[in-house]
Amino acid sequence: DTDALVDRFGRVARDLRVSVTEKCSLRCTYCMPAEGLPSIPRDDLLTPGEIARLVGIAARRFGVTDVRFTGGEPLVRREIVEIVRLAREAAPEASLSMTTNGLGLDKVAPALVAAGLDRVNVSLDSVDRAHFAELTRRDRLPDVLAGIRGALAAGLAPIKLNAVLMPETLRGARDLLAWAVEHGCHLRFIEQMPLDADKRWAREHMVTAERLLDELGERFALRAVGRDDPSAPAEEWLVDDGPATVGIIASVTRSFCGACDRTRLTAEGTVRSCLFGDAETDLRALLRTGADDDALATAWQAAMWAKPWAHGFDDGAPDPESFAPTGRSMGAIGG
Ligand code: GTP
Ligand code: 5AD
Ligand code: SF4
Repeated sequence: DTDALVDRFGRVARDLRVSVTEKCSLRCTYCMPAEGLPSIPRDDLLTPGEIARLVGIAARRFGVTDVRFTGGEPLVRREIVEIVRLAREAAPEASLSMTTNGLGLDKVAPALVAAGLDRVNVSLDSVDRAHFAELTRRDRLPDVLAGIRGALAAGLAPIKLNAVLMPETLRGARDLLAWAVEHGCHLRFIEQMPLDADKRWAREHMVTAERLLDELGERFALRAVGRDDPSAPAEEWLVDDGPATVGIIASVTRSFCGACDRTRLTAEGTVRSCLFGDAETDLRALLRTGADDDALATAWQAAMWAKPWAHGFDDGAPDPESFAPTGRSMGAIGG
């Protein structure tokens, strides 16, 4: 259909990721600087109503089927329940999900479900308290585990867990997988991408999917079963003949840009066609000067048309020079 979000390479975006804040309650070393990110002036954040209007355009005109709220940490935005409620009204048929670090999730999960949230992915890098504190610079593991239990109790099952691969994660990877299987959560390990605010990422130091498979293979029998769907970032492995599986998001060594179906909105209301690169298109200015839906849709489509072919920092990129380092860190994009 002519109204979809299509790029020059024929990819169609059906998955919208909306960052609602750059603030976070943790300081993961692969994401945030120790002092946090400079805060966005309140007036520069999209309001819940503005977010819902854009979600509605995405769903109705572009055929977007999946909307995910991210941050920073989406739960630190005080209006998060209202954002979900208004987005649900604007996009009654869409799948609404959230990627959260789990802090405070136990308290707010019932309200989020009532507002129309369907699923949560929780970032959990280790079930060892000391490792967790080292990675996130906060000693909050018990609170995150309480958040996961609360979300399960509120009906947000099954939960996906995301663990970014670092040397500290690798050490605890077997215990983390055992914990996930025991608690009925679907764990995915993610290769670290060069999105850390401190810019310490280096290709030769990163923990690869291959290294992780060796490590997990010491305790579990793993059998590759492929992707759940062609645009899913994770490849799945059956654990000890199932039914549990573990996913690996090999963003660097086995990149999946060719099947990318994502479009992104930052907390300030700009469109990002890719995690990487610095091209952003401002929809907030249009929203606040009375633009109609046609004008917003046209600007969004133009932004996506210019989506780069690939992030280009992996080995197999058709154009290695296409890697555009980004001025924003993960905490300011939302993963
Ligand atoms: P599901 O719908 O549950 O599969 O969500 P998801 O995996 O798309 O979302 P989530 O927020 O849990 O993201 C997991 C990880 O996938 C993120 O940490 C990123 O590392 C990676 N990821 C998501 N989108 C992209 C993308 O466009 N490009 C790359 N390279 N990685 C991405
Ligand atoms: N590389 C890969 N994934 C990252 N995330 C945060 N920073 C990075 C990075 N540098 C993950 C978080 C969260 C998801 C949205 O992005 O762990 O699960
Ligand atoms: Fe916060 Fe998530 Fe970044 Fe960790 S990865 S600092 S939890 S936004």
